[in-house]
Amino acid sequence: MSWDDLDDLTALDADPEVMRFLGAPRTRAEVVELMPGRLSPSEDAIGLGFWCGIEAGAEVEPRDRGRFAGWWCLSLEGPGLAELGYRLHRHAWGRGLAVEGSAALLEHGFATVGLERIIATTMTVNAGSRGVMRRLGMRHTATEVLTWADPLPDADQGEVSYEITRAEWAAAR
Ligand SMILES: CC(C)(COP(=O)(O)OP(=O)(O)OC[C@H]1O[C@@H](n2cnc3c(N)ncnc32)[C@H](O)[C@@H]1OP(=O)(O)O)[C@@H](O)C(=O)NCCC(=O)NCCS
Repeated sequence: MSWDDLDDLTALDADPEVMRFLGAPRTRAEVVELMPGRLSPSEDAIGLGFWCGIEAGAEVEPRDRGRFAGWWCLSLEGPGLAELGYRLHRHAWGRGLAVEGSAALLEHGFATVGLERIIATTMTVNAGSRGVMRRLGMRHTATEVLTWADPLPDADQGEVSYEITRAEWAAAR
């Protein structure tokens, strides 16, 4: 991810369907505020951060760099522990891209960065995100109902947590 992606990232977060389980759609100014945190992970988060996915191929729009599909991230949560995240444009949904990009990040996290464990969380009702975690071989570890100042619809059904260890990832390859 870089500042060159700002237009695409703004369009992504402006879509209420994309943000359905994440919060209110964002303005460009709000996305700009998020960029420094995304582009400059802490010093101990070596090898982690945010990546954008660009589709190539004959059927995509005639743009030099292909069509922006969305982003994936690994954020440091503790020693040897990172959280996986992803957000795709509607046009990219339902084609296995979230799993494809996430699988590449699991490989990067375990094989290159040397992580021990990768976790992910989502709203209980976010079936698409849970489908990605299931397809990656992640285990459901907890369901928690949290208290929010301004809860999203179905927040009362809670948040689910998933994880996969390096040993589990290696055994499933
Ligand atoms: C959630 C999201 C990343 C899924 O992306 P995607 O590329 O469509 O997912 P994939 O095609 O890789 O599908 C992975 C699995 O989930 C299932 N799945 C995907 N969307 C689904 C949905 N809406 N309902 C039920 N299952 C769904 C797929 O069928 C697939 O399982 P299968 O192979 O057993 O059939 C995408 O919808 C998105 O970006 N949503 C908005 C942002 C968001 O909610 N991000 C996650 C926040 S925690």
